[in-house]
Parts: sequence; structure tokens; C-alpha cells
Amino acid sequence: MGTTADAWLPSANFWQNTFDKSTNDGQEAALFKNIVLENILNSQCGIEAVRQLQIEKARSASPSSRLRLYINNDRRDDLADLLLEPPSNSGNDLPDLVSRATGAEKFCLVVNNLELLVGDVSSVLGTFLETMFACRGTPIGGCEAVLFAGNYAETSFGFHEGFEHAFLVHLGPGVKDFYCMPSNTYVETTGGREPTFGELDFLLERSTKFQLDPGDILYLPAHVYHIGKQTSFSVSIALPLYNVPQERFFLKGVLPLLIDELLVKSEQPGSPYLPLNAGADTFLASQLPILESAVKNLQAQCHEHGPDILRYYWYRLMSNGYWEVRQSSFEDLEKTNSLNEREDSFMPGDLIELKKPFKAFWSQLDCKDNELRIFLKGESTIADNKPVIIQTLNNLNSYYAFPIPSDQSVLDLLSVLDATGALIRHNKSQTSPLSN
Ligand SMILES: [Fe+2]
Repeated sequence: MGTTADAWLPSANFWQNTFDKSTNDGQEAALFKNIVLENILNSQCGIEAVRQLQIEKARSASPSSRLRLYINNDRRDDLADLLLEPPSNSGNDLPDLVSRATGAEKFCLVVNNLELLVGDVSSVLGTFLETMFACRGTPIGGCEAVLFAGNYAETSFGFHEGFEHAFLVHLGPGVKDFYCMPSNTYVETTGGREPTFGELDFLLERSTKFQLDPGDILYLPAHVYHIGKQTSFSVSIALPLYNVPQERFFLKGVLPLLIDELLVKSEQPGSPYLPLNAGADTFLASQLPILESAVKNLQAQCHEHGPDILRYYWYRLMSNGYWEVRQSSFEDLEKTNSLNEREDSFMPGDLIELKKPFKAFWSQLDCKDNELRIFLKGESTIADNKPVIIQTLNNLNSYYAFPIPSDQSVLDLLSVLDATGALIRHNKSQTSPLSN
């Protein structure tokens, strides 16, 4: 749905022509200037992420994202903990906050899954990625936003290899110099694949240098070696694209789910004590058939439940706006909602709108004929199978504000979906910001 607010987004022509030519079909690093303007997303998202983690810690909630602090290339979990105890005056910017909390003047802060902490990051950068995925498809493992903030002279991981194709969105305020080198040149120059710390001139002079100004986006293909250097504070967001090898994706992501289901089903007695002097071959002869039978059971489990697991995954990834799907359950969604009882429950006629790039999906997975399973932002819940529910979901997917119909099952569903944080409420008196 095109709006004036989306005018900054790259067009299909950009991805099909400019991007493909500049990156040699995604194989080489390339810099795209002045894409994310300051009024769309800026370096304030760094301090917002830390404040959000402080709030989660104060509520004793398990943190939704992982924060790492590096001082002089050393990871300092002790100081990172201090950062999450808000000082009485936490300052207006990240260097001030870090210095007050930890005493460190030079630092590098890394926060994984930034998309879970800062709404503007999931919306703005998710919508940016969606324009690419619409042309090239989406990675099977989704994608992630990782915050890199600091005033360190150079990246704390040395001159190192990247393992996924990624974008680096530079938000300033400082400028960052980014040096890139193809992996074969790096291995030829250093004699190995390990990162290089310390004296780097011999690598920098053989590298391609990109100057990242605020708003620029660097495309960094997998296996390109790189390091960022800067003289003043800046914030960048890396967007790794998880097109992990498919077999690895299934072995690590799907098999554990099937194994868990199998373990719940199996009610076997404890194993016998092993004779001490029987030797390894006797052990093998008695146990190998059991291992083989476990694999057969797993295969049967895969035939029975594999299709539903894959369907669930598809809906979760797509409804999550292509951000990586984290382990969660529908019970969690209902639980979170009851914890966040709002005084202002939804009323018929209230205007409501869905945040991009999230989408609502519905299916009959794991529910009765008169029910639907609704997916939003990677979560799911059950609702009545009624035309007014489907109409409401279609309205959400239009990304325009619309009035909530007078129907109790819709009100109940929206109050559960609200726990995902993907819904925007407007007061009745407001008109839709998107309707102009
Ligand atoms: Fe990196």
C-alpha cells in the first residue's frame, strides 16, 4: 500500500537494476548513499534500545534482546550489567549514559534483535527489507537487526569475516570508514581465515574503502572481510539475512521440535545398568538397534507432524514481517496480554491500524471447524471462524486506520493481538495519519 510516508523506499527498479549491477548480483560490497533520512530513523534508536532493556530489567522480565559491551576490544559483561541499572540521570545520549553508568569513555555496544526493542527499527527497516524481498524473495531464516553503537576507533572484532549477506544501515551522527576485502584476498594476505587485530595497515591498503555518512546503506555479502573505523560516536544497524543452508535450517530448527514431540509421546522404562567388563563392541551390538529404531520413530514423526511444523513456521515468518521467528507459544501471547491489562480496552468505533511490515494470516491449523488460527507478528491465537473476523483481518492488512466493528469476538481477538505490539490505536477524534 503506497503512501507518501513510503516515498523514501527503494523501488522494484532499484532492486532489479541498480542493486544487481552495483553488487554483481549480490556478490560484491556496494554503498548506497542517502537512503534512510534522519526524519525516518536516526541514531536515537541506540539509547532507546538501552532504555527499553532497562525497563525490562526493572520489571524482572527476561530480556528480549542480548546486549554486549566491549571496552578496548574486551567483552565486559560486568559493566554491561551496570548499564542496565539506570543511573539517576542517564543523560541524553548513549556516550553520556555509558560513561555515567560504567565510567568508560570509549566503548562499543552491540544489541541483538533490536527489532524487538525499538518499534521504529522493526517498522522502518522491515519495510525497507520487504521492498527487496518482494523482488528477490525472503531468506528462510528471516533477518535480524543488530545495533552497533560506539566511539571506538575500530570494530572490536578486528578485521573479520561476515557469515551472512547483510546490510549496514549507518545512522551517524559521526561518519564511519568501512574497509572491505574479498575472502580470497584476505586469506592470501594473512595466510588464514582468523580475524586480525592490532597493526592493520597492510590490510587497509589492499581493501576497498567506503565512507558511510548518516543515511547510507552498505551491502556486505557473506564472507567479505571487513572492519569499521571512526573518530567520533556513531550508530549503525546491521541487517543480516539468514539464508542459512537448508539442511542446517531443518536439522537445527525443525528436528528438535520433532524430537521434543516424540519424547513427550514415548513412555519407555529406564535403561538397564551396563555390565562393566562387556567391552565397547558388546555395547554397540545391544544399543545400535535402539538408535536405529529411534531414527525410524523420528522419521514417522516427521511424516505425521512435519507438514504442520512447516506450515506454522511459514505463517510465523510471514506474519512477523520477515524478521526471524523466535521460540514462543500461543499460551505466551495470552499470558502476556493478561499481564498487560489495559485500563482502556478496545471499544467499537475506535480507530485501529496495523504497523508495517507485520501481516495478519489465518488458517485452520490445530483448531476446530468453527475456529480459525490467527497469526500476527510471529505469534498465534484462536478466534471464531466468522466473516466479521476475516473482514477485520483484511482491514488490518490494508494498513489504513479503520473503526472496530461492534462485535464481541472481534474485540476479544484485538485485545489478545494487542499484546504483540503490532497494533496502533487512534483516538476516535483523530483521523488516520495515512488517509491523506
Ligand atoms: Fe562484521
